[in-house]
Amino acid sequence: MEILDNILKEFDIEYLQCKTMEECNALRVKYLGKSGKVTEALKEIKNVPNDEKKAYGESVNKLKVLIEGRISDLNVKLEEEAYQKELEDMERVDLTVPAKESRGSLHPITITQHKIEEVFKSMGFIIEDGNEIETEYNNFEAVNIPKNHPARDMQDTFYLANGQVLKTHTSARQNYIMRKYGAPLKAIFPGRCFRNEELDASHENTFFQLEGMMIDKDISISNLIYFMKTMLSSVFGREVKVRLRPGFFPFVEPGFELDCSCPYCGGSGCGVCKRSGWIELCPCGMIHPKVLEMGGIDPNEYQGFAFGLGLSRMAMMNFEINDIRVLNGGKLKTLKSAHTK
Ligand code: DAH
Repeated sequence: MEILDNILKEFDIEYLQCKTMEECNALRVKYLGKSGKVTEALKEIKNVPNDEKKAYGESVNKLKVLIEGRISDLNVKLEEEAYQKELEDMERVDLTVPAKESRGSLHPITITQHKIEEVFKSMGFIIEDGNEIETEYNNFEAVNIPKNHPARDMQDTFYLANGQVLKTHTSARQNYIMRKYGAPLKAIFPGRCFRNEELDASHENTFFQLEGMMIDKDISISNLIYFMKTMLSSVFGREVKVRLRPGFFPFVEPGFELDCSCPYCGGSGCGVCKRSGWIELCPCGMIHPKVLEMGGIDPNEYQGFAFGLGLSRMAMMNFEINDIRVLNGGKLKTLKSAHTK
């Protein structure tokens, strides 16, 4: 019995000196381990006289439970202290300090779009939005591309189960705009378009166009040339020349490919214009009488011009991006470097 008292006294001293989890563990081994002091004391029972065995056994067990309890309490206490210390040592994050990382910015396409919108707004055009999912009628029939017309081949797209399509061009909004506003009308409508394309540096399945229409009495190709020249000079920040070549689009008659003198070299020839001095920029033409009619406008009274500017293409030129896939790639690093050029 005296031995047991000594074990407890000894334990109490060591217990108070115990400051870390490791020390606590060592203490546990020293007293409760396989050859620990308490375990040894338990084994001693065989040497105790029979009539004292019961009392001895009870006392050793009491001691064991007591020491186990204290060690377990100590463990909890040390664990909590260690956790608190870890928290204190942890690097503090001050959420109120402005982030070091650079801020987000508008996408090159959005920036280019805003620029062009500003110019057209100043010329009295309204800006309209469009759907990305369109009826087959709006995308094709309403712009004079009937079912089975070969022009549909060039604009293969994604057909939805309900028969609607992902719009292949912003011209899909022409009919809606004409019906909404009637004539006279001056509107531009930018939007995202989709086509079934083989992807390469200049072809994407998702790209942006900006469509424009001007409808009034006595509108001629001269108006078209004037507006396009003014707009492009303003967007590129320098005077440009434009020229028209014939081009076929079922919704215009006559139809043109509009070229712009290269805004980078001024027409003398450079990498951007492939040394030709001209850049093919914008298909356009005089709106086909049938298209006006389908839009509820009398072609005998009104005429108009329309154009479909390649907005992705304009953004690429503006930001010196030479692979169209960069635009939808979502690689901020690449887009950012385009910004800083
Ligand atoms: N929608 C045509 C395309 O994506 C582009 C176009 C050509 C639009 C002539 C027009 C236009 O408004 O007059 O290929």
